[in-house]
Amino acid sequence: MALDKSFVDNSSWKPDLFKGKVVFVTGGAGSICRIQTEAMVLLGADAAIIGRNVQKTENAAKEIQQLRPGSKVIGLGNVDVRDVNSIAKSVEKTVEELGRIDFVIAGAAGNFLSDFNHLSSNAFKSVVSIDLLGSFNTVKACFDQLRKNKGAIIFVSATLHYYGVPFQSHVGAAKAGVDALSNALAVELGPIGIRSNCIAPGMIEGTEGMSRLTPPGATPFDKKVPLQRLGSGKDIAEATVYLFSPAADYVTGTIQVVDGGVWHIGSFM
Ligand code: HXC
Repeated sequence: MALDKSFVDNSSWKPDLFKGKVVFVTGGAGSICRIQTEAMVLLGADAAIIGRNVQKTENAAKEIQQLRPGSKVIGLGNVDVRDVNSIAKSVEKTVEELGRIDFVIAGAAGNFLSDFNHLSSNAFKSVVSIDLLGSFNTVKACFDQLRKNKGAIIFVSATLHYYGVPFQSHVGAAKAGVDALSNALAVELGPIGIRSNCIAPGMIEGTEGMSRLTPPGATPFDKKVPLQRLGSGKDIAEATVYLFSPAADYVTGTIQVVDGGVWHIGSFM
């Protein structure tokens, strides 16, 4: 799952839409956030991607940079979003190398299927700390840049907490918190020109989330989706570009669900 130049050629967006802008992405070497980064870079932005695994993060940065000649993409590994100081150092490095931060994607996440009986307190805490505290830490560390540049934030959420999804109590609780955090920041930071929105992906083909959460041999889900197909990376890319573009200048505190309409019929896990 990756974008290429055809995303720009066939796009309704101007190729230089984000020229001169910089996006800071936690989890940018993963699947969903990598696609989001690719779209921003293809449309003119420079990017810093942040992750725990040094090699994976640096390799992904090199590959994303190749998508657009002249772009600058840096990969900062060995960063754990649970530690605000380690993100702050990445922010410093990003500003040193890329000059500024305009957009933040708080997407680093942890997940596994576990029934409540086998979910330890530490396991619950680990996921809440990565998904929720990590999202808070990311915005906290980027705040001066966001304020200075009247920036925008996208949190990567989910739809799990709209209904009860078994084996996902830890992630559902964390993502409900992410939505609440985004809404509060939209209201609190709106007056200083910062917008805050969430993207809640559904079942997106080829993602780590899909492979982790779909048991082997599971019945194909696509015909249960109102739009009759699984989501693609491009679907997430388009929503990301919209929310960061001037087309969404008056849009804050929203949750953009990108799931083909599944959340209206409930979970089928
Ligand atoms: C039950 C588990 C478990 C599992 C780990 N634990 N995996 N419990 N079932 N499959 C428990 C451990 O036993 C431990 O508890 C606690 O969780 C912490 O585990 P560690 O390995 O020490 O933590 P850590 O190294 O920080 O790893 C965090 C992690 C791991 C979340 C557990 O899976 C991870 O690093 N994930 C990052 C990558 C990832 O998950 N990507 C998915 C993105 S997809 P004890 O009690 O033994 O100490 C996504 C989609 C979400 O997020 C949207 C849904 C639709």
